Amino acid sequence: MVQLTLPKNSRITHGKTWPKPEGATNLKKVQIYRWNPDDGKNPRVDTYFVDLDSCGPMILDALIKIKSEIDPTLTFRRSCREGICGSCAMNIDGINTLACTYGLDEVQGDIKIYPLPHMPVVKDLIPDLTHFYAQHASIKPWLETETNTPAKEWRQSIEDRKKLDGLYECIMCASCSTACPSYWWNGDRYLGPAALLHAYRWIVDSRDEATGERLDDLEDEFKLYRCHTIMNCAKTCPKGLNPAKAIQSIKHMMVERAV
Ligand code: SF4
Ligand code: FES
Repeated sequence: MVQLTLPKNSRITHGKTWPKPEGATNLKKVQIYRWNPDDGKNPRVDTYFVDLDSCGPMILDALIKIKSEIDPTLTFRRSCREGICGSCAMNIDGINTLACTYGLDEVQGDIKIYPLPHMPVVKDLIPDLTHFYAQHASIKPWLETETNTPAKEWRQSIEDRKKLDGLYECIMCASCSTACPSYWWNGDRYLGPAALLHAYRWIVDSRDEATGERLDDLEDEFKLYRCHTIMNCAKTCPKGLNPAKAIQSIKHMMVERAV
């Protein structure tokens, strides 16, 4: 029987329990994954206590409060604080989502926060998204056109513009791709739900003239066909998008052009 064991330096250890804030009566326990590439130590889970009476309502508010008032070494990404930049995606209470739009009151009991799963970690809650962004770039996320370029304004019919709804709203947070088992195992070659949703966004754009080339490029047993419609992507997307549906539409176009 094959036995799989994690390398010793990947085992998560118990970390530090930080003191409770003095005089606070409405405390929430928050357990956070910590890893520093520079100290040579194993990852650990630190425990903090946040005074909810002096904290904003979102998970990101708690993280900012911890960093400002308890532990300045805690490292995470954030920018817009309103679900637009995609930078604060992490695994909260077992769900890949955005810390800035996920409420503290949405978690029953203690809050457990980890980086997005199955990605290399840069530090603490920051995943390395280099490969994820390279896959996005590989689908050529721009209009490809040689003719029909208007001098000024590029109009679409209302119907054609509507085809982009549910696609253009993606903020590239990577919650979907890192929730996908197929991406976990074959992320080196499978493009994953986010990149494929973007691929479809340009395939269906009525102004684009490279539809055939785009489909040719995706006609690959790994890039596209490693999607097995597991649907974790749609379940977890914090913007309510459905990458699996977009992938299904690409597969449908592949079949249609083959007959
Ligand atoms: S489809 Fe949703 S989960 Fe995936 S990257 Fe876009 S916004 Fe994030
Ligand atoms: S900080 Fe921008 S999406 Fe959360």
